[in-house]
Amino acid sequence: MKHNPFKYGELSTGENFCNRQAELKRLHGAFRDGQSVVLISPRRWGKSSLVNHALQTYKGKLISIKIDCFGIKSAEEFYDVLLKSVLVATSTRVQQVADSVKKHIRAMVPFIKYSIGEGEEIKVSLDLPRSRVDVDAILDLAQKIARQRKVRIVCCIDEFQKLSEWKDGGSLLEKLRSHWQKHKDVSYCLYGSKRHLMASLFADSSQPFYRFGETLFLKKISKEEWVRFLVAEFKRTGKVMDPALAGRLTDRVECHSYFVQYLARTCWNNAQNKVTPADLEVSHLELLNDHVALFQQIAKGLTQYQANYLKAVVAGERQFTSQRVLSEYAIGSQGNVKRIMDTLEDLEVLDFATGDPVFCDPYFAPLFKRYFVENR
Ligand SMILES: Nc1ncnc2c1ncn2[C@@H]1O[C@H](COP(=O)(O)OP(=O)(O)OP(=O)(O)O)[C@@H](O)[C@H]1O
Ligand SMILES: [Mg+2]
Repeated sequence: MKHNPFKYGELSTGENFCNRQAELKRLHGAFRDGQSVVLISPRRWGKSSLVNHALQTYKGKLISIKIDCFGIKSAEEFYDVLLKSVLVATSTRVQQVADSVKKHIRAMVPFIKYSIGEGEEIKVSLDLPRSRVDVDAILDLAQKIARQRKVRIVCCIDEFQKLSEWKDGGSLLEKLRSHWQKHKDVSYCLYGSKRHLMASLFADSSQPFYRFGETLFLKKISKEEWVRFLVAEFKRTGKVMDPALAGRLTDRVECHSYFVQYLARTCWNNAQNKVTPADLEVSHLELLNDHVALFQQIAKGLTQYQANYLKAVVAGERQFTSQRVLSEYAIGSQGNVKRIMDTLEDLEVLDFATGDPVFCDPYFAPLFKRYFVENR
């Protein structure tokens, strides 16, 4: 019995990784040249998977450092995590940690402890009095090690937009930029969701990270690529997926990476040998029902104006500031519309990158119709 190859909620790698050839090429080039990259996309389109896959498939010597800012709450914590991550990533033996510390951050020697964990992994723990933290030394450590050992280092920082939300975020960003831009042997790969926040961090001339690196706005994987991928993956695991049906599957979830995997996984489970249109219907309904709780959580926080605006969107309206739409859907004044748009974008219900409102998650519009339109 073959296993279901489709997965969501974890990074996609190996055979489960679909295409993204052009992006991989750009990332590989950046790693090779020491060029920093900024990667931006809405949630769950595949940033983390892409960076991870790019590192795994890079042909050449490379040390990668990965930091996820998701759970980090302050600059102080960030420096601790950075220091530990650099030491662990650049060492294969405990002695190497000791050497790096002695050579490059001597003043911190008494406060850094290292040991071997149960899985033979190197563990670094810090007992640093705040007054003894040398942030400049921490920030330059990766570059110093890279230079000394003549290796290339890529430092990947996920959910980078978080930094700007911390209390001391502004000064932290300035500090980082002033050091990182001098690093010749380390490339920084910074990525995150919250597209408008990320975009303003790197495209706004008043921001420290203005034009920091090559900026990549990740696109969705195209329908053609998904169809090829789905047909092949079903075949590899002993089931038949018709290309036309694979196209319909992809359309249902608007080529959204996470949801393509989700729906494909459900279809695989529901199908006997050949996936039928009925299997797709049942699976799609399952997907929607699995997301009802999540949907309701967002929906119950919507104001009447916001709900009305969304009704206009699902009805296909586009002229939101026209008198007709304003009064037909009771959206309030013209000035209200901008506020509604900002909030819905913040809530990650809608995305306005193309100008027109687009739902971030493909389950939202069908469920909104189910509970807010057809129900009435
Ligand atoms: N290239 C790909 N091929 C196949 N599936 C993919 C690909 N990229 C992403 N996915 C699917 O989408 C899901 C989300 O991907 P990933 O976590 O990489 O996105 P992300 O943009 O980093 O998300 P977040 O914004 O939550 O950090 C994965 O679990 C996987 O199922
Ligand atoms: Mg991610």
